[in-house]
Amino acid sequence: MKKQVLTGIKPTGRVHLGNYIGAIKPALEFAQNEEYMPAYFVADYHGLTKIHDKEEMNLLSRGIAATWLALGLNPEKAIFYRQSDVPDIFELSWILACFSPKGLMNRAHAYKSIVEENIEIGREADTGVNMGLFTYPILMAADILLFQTEIVPVGRDQIQHVEIARDIVESFNHTYGDTFTLPQYVIEKETAVLPGLDGRKMSKSYNNTIPLFEEPKKLQKLINKIKTDSSPPGAPKDPDASVIYSLYKEFATDIQTSEMRNRFLSGISWGEAKKELFDVMNVYLEEPRDRYNELMASPEKLNEVLLQGAEKARKKTRPLLQEVKRKIGILHS
Ligand code: ADP
Ligand code: TRP
Repeated sequence: MKKQVLTGIKPTGRVHLGNYIGAIKPALEFAQNEEYMPAYFVADYHGLTKIHDKEEMNLLSRGIAATWLALGLNPEKAIFYRQSDVPDIFELSWILACFSPKGLMNRAHAYKSIVEENIEIGREADTGVNMGLFTYPILMAADILLFQTEIVPVGRDQIQHVEIARDIVESFNHTYGDTFTLPQYVIEKETAVLPGLDGRKMSKSYNNTIPLFEEPKKLQKLINKIKTDSSPPGAPKDPDASVIYSLYKEFATDIQTSEMRNRFLSGISWGEAKKELFDVMNVYLEEPRDRYNELMASPEKLNEVLLQGAEKARKKTRPLLQEVKRKIGILHS
């Protein structure tokens, strides 16, 4: 039996380097390994907590799907789908909601941070919070549990959500006996949180991202915007404290990386370091970027791949959902 590995990306913005390094790249490494069965998906109903524009949803959702494929995910060897095409997930989500203490949701960080911000600026605590956002972790638990997932590769900010899924498993299994597998998160150790242009966590919410498939000219411009300190050319620089170096090592070979490390220590100028970063990234991303653009230009083809993936997903999810419904006393056959 292959180990189930699962992760989703929500379509709330263009895929950026943080998403790639923190979640997609490690997930693709699992997908290369025959010991694992990957289920990777577009978390469009999670995206709906934020995106309320039809065209935007459509485009962003296709963008996530095209990104996975452009980076080499083989849909024949994975379960690759759009969350909204697998209704079993939403049925399970309701069932799990009935096993999720409200207090657990109050403590979930996405919700909690909005409440804290509202209070800080004197607004009503729940301003701008829809119920989708509030119960977000339950839908994510359903995503994970319905596939009997063992491993969830995610960025550091998602750890709490996987822990909530584990709490829900324990509560359900305690009541009805062993049913769901206890999932485990896996974090990319080296670059747990990739900083953005301004040094804060790279995130769509902070407008400080470098989109993964940005056109070369714009990519270069964005790289030039990365914040650096004022140390002059010739002054030794600490590679481990530099966003430029942390990005560089993700796209360069080991030899290039150790050479760059030495150049940092012997005082490479920031301008030069940025140029080297652009070159190495551009070479690495050129082919996937072309594939991405091609896929984005043929929505039907993309849709077909996703629908086939959803079929495959349902084959896996249906029996477990039936078992759960039987256990809770809803299915009488
Ligand atoms: P964003 O913060 O831009 O909204 P998402 O929440 O959609 O990103 O994240 C999608 C995946 O990418 C998650 O697994 C998340 O942990 C990971 N991720 C996002 N930003 C970063 C980052 N700066 N560094 C590492 N991983 C990240
Ligand atoms: N919440 C994740 C994010 O914001 C996306 C996601 C939805 C997910 N369902 C998932 C990630 C299940 C891993 C497993 O990035």
